[in-house]
Amino acid sequence: MHNKTYDVPAEWAQRAYINDTQYKAEYARSVSDPDGFWGEHGKRIDWFTPFTKVKNTSYGADELYIKWFEDGITNVAYNCIDRHLDKRGDQVAIIWEGDDPSESRNITYRELHDEVCKFANVMRNRGVSKGDRVTIYMPMIPETAFAMLACARIGAIHSVVFGGFSPDSLANRIDDCGSNIVITADEGLRGGRKVPLKTNVDQAIARAERTVEHVVVVRRTGSDIAMEPGRDVYYHEAAELVTTECPCEPMNAEDPLFILYTSGSTGKPKGVLHTTGGYLVYASMTHQYVFDYHDGDIYWCTADVGWVTGHSYIVYGPLANGATTLMFEGIPNYPNNSRFWNVIDKHKVNIFYTAPTAIRALMQVGDEPVKDSSRASLRLLGSVGEPINPEAWEWYYRVVGEERCPIVDTWWQTETGGILITPLPGATKLKPGSATRPFFGVQPQIVDADGNVLEGACEGNLVIADSWPGQMRSVYGDHERFVQTYFSTYPGKYFTGDGCRRDEDGYYWITGRVDDVINVSGHRMGTAEVESALVAHDKVSEAAVVGYPHDIKGQGIYAYVTLMEGIRPSDELKKELVTWVRGEIGPIAAPDMIQFAPSLPKTRSGKIMRRILRKIAEDEFGALGDTSTLADPTVVDDLISNRQNRK
Ligand code: PRX
Repeated sequence: MHNKTYDVPAEWAQRAYINDTQYKAEYARSVSDPDGFWGEHGKRIDWFTPFTKVKNTSYGADELYIKWFEDGITNVAYNCIDRHLDKRGDQVAIIWEGDDPSESRNITYRELHDEVCKFANVMRNRGVSKGDRVTIYMPMIPETAFAMLACARIGAIHSVVFGGFSPDSLANRIDDCGSNIVITADEGLRGGRKVPLKTNVDQAIARAERTVEHVVVVRRTGSDIAMEPGRDVYYHEAAELVTTECPCEPMNAEDPLFILYTSGSTGKPKGVLHTTGGYLVYASMTHQYVFDYHDGDIYWCTADVGWVTGHSYIVYGPLANGATTLMFEGIPNYPNNSRFWNVIDKHKVNIFYTAPTAIRALMQVGDEPVKDSSRASLRLLGSVGEPINPEAWEWYYRVVGEERCPIVDTWWQTETGGILITPLPGATKLKPGSATRPFFGVQPQIVDADGNVLEGACEGNLVIADSWPGQMRSVYGDHERFVQTYFSTYPGKYFTGDGCRRDEDGYYWITGRVDDVINVSGHRMGTAEVESALVAHDKVSEAAVVGYPHDIKGQGIYAYVTLMEGIRPSDELKKELVTWVRGEIGPIAAPDMIQFAPSLPKTRSGKIMRRILRKIAEDEFGALGDTSTLADPTVVDDLISNRQNRK
């Protein structure tokens, strides 16, 4: 463990919303009187009909329910746009920075209103109404935010699918939520390369069981693409026919806002369902306090809107706060390794929120590309998505932030809707590598394998003892899976799937997933998903996938593959399998290492012993532990001698 601590700079303790004394007092109140605390903070958004009830939740085994502000009526788009128009109509809401550094665009709140209304009307003209599911498969362009907010405005439920997913993955998600409309672009543009989004949509629709009746295509690159008459329409053409006014649908606090698919340890990805009121209260409140957002600040989160970070901290949280949020189409190293820092200078960014994988990749190319920029506007840095190693933290702090910017290492999940464990920059002493302390209302506990709650300094599995407003409410279409996945391991508590240590100061240190989920460059991947993609290949008989430590990605994907009788292992076949997985799931799932194995280590009952496979992939085979329960212990020797990750 890293023992260095960094004090809160004096000017931060003064200017921030929350100092340490306030944090302690407010945190205590938030857990002793959640109704009082959240009843007050629930008013941070505007309600058409105010709520009279605040928290109505139970994690009981037989009776699981999660309701916040349940009789309140509101609308998310109203809160992100309309309520700001009087005061901030001319303020920039979204700064868009294109992949090409010569392209950028400012969108004021008034323009945002008009664009969102137009998008909403285009959807309404295609029959979309409250409760319908809309699939959004888009690049990082302003129209993506317009489309999300347009759904919120008319009460439709969006399901944003990351543009890096394959046609098959897209088809599965279209089928799972039963959406009959897809919003996409002709192509995306990343690092100067085109991404064939519309072509992928066509292939997905051909494979999906659900009939997709409408495809709305935003023109981004202008390349020639196939358009199917009657089904496909260019957005710019449809938008010419509609007005810039569209009423906000009154939504109950517990009406769904969006579905976002995420990987679990078993089966296909789950449709994480978030609702309206509690989600927006929580996303906007965490955005304000964690990033200490003040009027006039320029805030930039580098995530893709295809992930939850983009939902909560590019779109909904910042816009609900009337913030200026920057949306970036490109990648950190295009056209060169100074891109992030040049964008910070170009738009005078004050708050910068990115992922450890990007920090590590940029650290590897040295300090020069950073030093080519001024970064004088920067005041606060953030990290999200995976554990940040102390070396990367120190580099981020020293080189990027020049020792004047605190770093908020924010721990949370798709399921949690917003940040749960994090420093507050005016309140929390920092320790590199620790997400530090819980946000208001969040009650983390560390339990052992039997569910005993551990006290003081300890290490175990991280659970949350009670509900917070931003929590997911269900798995779309499969509530039982929600109950099973999150509330059955430790009855009465929400199980995060993460391991965690708590130190003597009560600081939390996330140690990574304890289930069969791996975190590759901050992207969540179920090992079971990669395995089923591999075994779908006709030369593969069996596959087992584990994570291993990777310098840049955090974790890499290591696949053990058993081939069909008579198939000879070769390097070409490895390449073929990597390409295959990219096609089945998407590039983020491509195995980094493949080891052909004549057989896999199994117990007598046929269960694969992943513990052993993990150790060998980590090159830590000296500590394999007990192998006596294996049906054939000699399998292990072959695995060790052919291991791919030799340090
Ligand atoms: O393992 C934790 C890791 O990312 C997982 C959640 O992934 P996802 O749902 O894709 O959401 C990512 C963005 C919120 C967690 O279970 N994780 C996320 N943030 C951190 C982290 N691990 C350590 N430190 C973090 N700050």
